[in-house]
Amino acid sequence: MNSRRTTAAVILAVTVAGAVLPPLLGAADLPTAQHHLAHSALIAGAVFAGVLFALPSRDTQVGHYGWLLTATLAPIAAMLLMWPSKYTWFEVHPAGHVVEHLGLVGLGFLSGYAGQRYAAGIGWASGLSLFAMAFASAWGFGVAPPGAIAASVSPHATKAGSAVAGPPDPVRGKTLFAQNCAACHGSNGGGGQGPSLLHERERKSFTLAQQWIIDPAPPMPKLYPASLSRTDVRDVAAYVEQL
Ligand code: HEC
Repeated sequence: MNSRRTTAAVILAVTVAGAVLPPLLGAADLPTAQHHLAHSALIAGAVFAGVLFALPSRDTQVGHYGWLLTATLAPIAAMLLMWPSKYTWFEVHPAGHVVEHLGLVGLGFLSGYAGQRYAAGIGWASGLSLFAMAFASAWGFGVAPPGAIAASVSPHATKAGSAVAGPPDPVRGKTLFAQNCAACHGSNGGGGQGPSLLHERERKSFTLAQQWIIDPAPPMPKLYPASLSRTDVRDVAAYVEQL
């Protein structure tokens, strides 16, 4: 392995670490826009490593067309991986999130590497197009309906499925608790048909409490997203953490 490929391997290793560690450490609560920026940074690292690994490419000669096909299809596959409807699923399943990130890194690397194997410059072009798509999606391009960007900035307008911006509001959570939870958990959270939620923060972190409310075990009913929005879940969890 020459030093160029060593550099490529180091960049790839750093990128993979950046893909794997944050979801496992519970960083899934990033606002959607920042999350996409993080994705585009991962892709940039992977593309760079891929091109670096393939260099020096055939400057005059053109490689097998299969490389071109791969360099065209890889960014499209990566785009499908960033499909937004699965955000909450990823919040609840950190391992799935890691797999998604690794898929992005792998496909980014492939875009750069395969493109560069086809002809000089194609790796950059393919990688750049993928990076541009991920970067643009941070601002709502292609993945979010109009208005969703404004919604992700305004704390109370967030719709189910998108990440939640702004600080949690436990006072609002208290009202939601009275309406949705008190029948089972008692009006002050002391328990009833459902268990007591006093000192719940010692059993579940804020993130875990939200994950539980999003995807509870029976007999507790699944109130999200039919009765509770993503913001409601956040606020009611913030209230529960204070009990
Ligand atoms: C129909 C009754 C019912 C309603 C309504 C309900 N829960 Fe529950 N909840 C339960 C039951 C029963 C459990 C225990 C389930 C288990 O442990 O398998 C539970 C468990 C929990 C836990 C986990 C407790 C632990 O073991 O750490 C939390 C947190 C919680 N509920 C919060 C809420 C919140 C917040 C709401 C309102 C948004 C709510 N629940 C609405 C019945 C209910």
